[in-house]
Amino acid sequence: MINSIEKEKELAAKEAIKFINNNQIVGLGTGSTAAYAIKGIGELVKNGLKIKAIPTSNRTKEMAILLNIPLIDINTIDSIDVSIDGADEFDSKLNLIKGGGGALLREKIVASLTKELIIIVDSTKKVDTLGKFKLPIEVIPFASNYVLKKVQFLNGEGKIRMLGDTEFITDEGNYIIDVDFGLISDPIYLSSKLNEIEGIVSHGLFIKLARKVIMGNNDTTISFES
Ligand code: A5P
Repeated sequence: MINSIEKEKELAAKEAIKFINNNQIVGLGTGSTAAYAIKGIGELVKNGLKIKAIPTSNRTKEMAILLNIPLIDINTIDSIDVSIDGADEFDSKLNLIKGGGGALLREKIVASLTKELIIIVDSTKKVDTLGKFKLPIEVIPFASNYVLKKVQFLNGEGKIRMLGDTEFITDEGNYIIDVDFGLISDPIYLSSKLNEIEGIVSHGLFIKLARKVIMGNNDTTISFES
């Protein structure tokens, strides 16, 4: 089972990197599926592909450097041509839950700047309704208790993400609260309500950002387009 899921991730990644062209600015996602794409992009660069990349996390940045993928400062560009990233869940409208790896803030900024966001997933990530995966919410540490209380008014039960005995700290120095909202029947509404809460820096609902989801499915891939 684990091997077939890994195969699906790799197949999706291989399909996605076909959409990268010379001289593009490329967003590099975070997570185990995105890692297959980054590895593939590293090969393409080795074979002559000319791109400049923007990583969505420190660990992705380290991987890109190891693979000699040229990087560019996000603050020097106006847009990103194509980004390839993973997801924790996607629905038929290509709305996503992301942030299982804790990189949602930079991922959402990169996604928002991207003309063509390609999401790569294995077949376990497809759902009818988002919400089985607890929604990651990035909060400034000062506001964590306040946000835990506020999400209760939205029927969410949250827990601060831990790494052993201490709080998990994001690349931007924040905490993650993983919130169980049950099934999220109206992700647009929930997203807008969360956006109103002070102290929330970002949350893992990615609404109308993905152009395409490429899902590994046994020995092949299936594409979903918005
Ligand atoms: C990282 O913060 C996430 O958004 C990942 O893209 C997501 O958790 C999917 O990760 P996997 O590809 O490892 O399942």
